[in-house]
Amino acid sequence: MKHFINLKDIPANDLRKILIDAKKRKKARKKLNNLDHDKGMPLKGKLLIQMFEKSSLRTRLSFFLAISQLSGRTLTLRPDELHLSKGGESIEDTAKILSSFGDAFMLRTDNDEKLGEFKKYLTIPIINGLSPSSHPTQILSDVFTVEEIKKKPISKLNITWIGDSNNVLNSLIAASIKFSFKLKVGCPKKYQPNKNIMNYIKKNKNKITIYNDPKKAVEGADVIFSDKVISLNDKVNKKNKLNHFKRFKITERLMTHAKKDCIYLHCLPRSKEVDEKVFLSKKSKVWQQAANRVHVQKSILLYCFGKLR
Ligand code: CP
Ligand code: NVA
Repeated sequence: MKHFINLKDIPANDLRKILIDAKKRKKARKKLNNLDHDKGMPLKGKLLIQMFEKSSLRTRLSFFLAISQLSGRTLTLRPDELHLSKGGESIEDTAKILSSFGDAFMLRTDNDEKLGEFKKYLTIPIINGLSPSSHPTQILSDVFTVEEIKKKPISKLNITWIGDSNNVLNSLIAASIKFSFKLKVGCPKKYQPNKNIMNYIKKNKNKITIYNDPKKAVEGADVIFSDKVISLNDKVNKKNKLNHFKRFKITERLMTHAKKDCIYLHCLPRSKEVDEKVFLSKKSKVWQQAANRVHVQKSILLYCFGKLR
């Protein structure tokens, strides 16, 4: 049994194995319907319990399809319907019950410590479906999308992130270290990654660079990522923060500083950090990016169950 909480804690070899499995599974499903089962029904009889403490469209649907295609089932819990959220029942007791009724637990939480607490008491795998500090299933899937589109290992590509130093960027930084790719981050000085992340970046100092000028950050880019400036439950002065990011909007003009065949990715949902013209252009691969979540999450589930081929 393996957990999937943070990319930085997962061996690079295992991450690569997940991507290889996802590629094979995606190819094998070309003629199948959404709910058709993968050959071999690898997770037959297994129940994935999901719980979202924050909104979700893609993660919710993609895990539903992922476990369904592997022949398992999913049940989505609403935190406000459990005893846990009202303080009546402990994480320890909740985790013990989840472990006896379910086979894996996917949690989207607004508190990183909860993931650790659940992990302590669960006897089934836990998957982080987004926390304030990371979004590992998203970024592993994004590495898959980049390699699928560019037809090259990501280590041979220049990746740029323009935007806030948030959970998605933290996972992208971890991926840069695990998969050894060059990453340029463009953000206002005030919103650079925090001390812990900067220390982690130092481990890979030749490959990760922070710029306060968006043009410099996109120079030579094969892929540009961005994300909302205001994340879910971001408790900041929104107007003030948005003002700092004005220069960091992804426009057609900014895209001209990247390579000609540069693609644009966004985990979604979007806000105003990207111009409509770029978002709806041919360079934008956001729908393919979202759809790939299903394929990669299937292989993440199999990894957690110790069933990767
Ligand atoms: N990208 C992503 O995780 O989307 P949701 O918040 O809709 O799940
Ligand atoms: N950074 C965003 C990602 C949403 C999928 C957030 O945390 O709201």
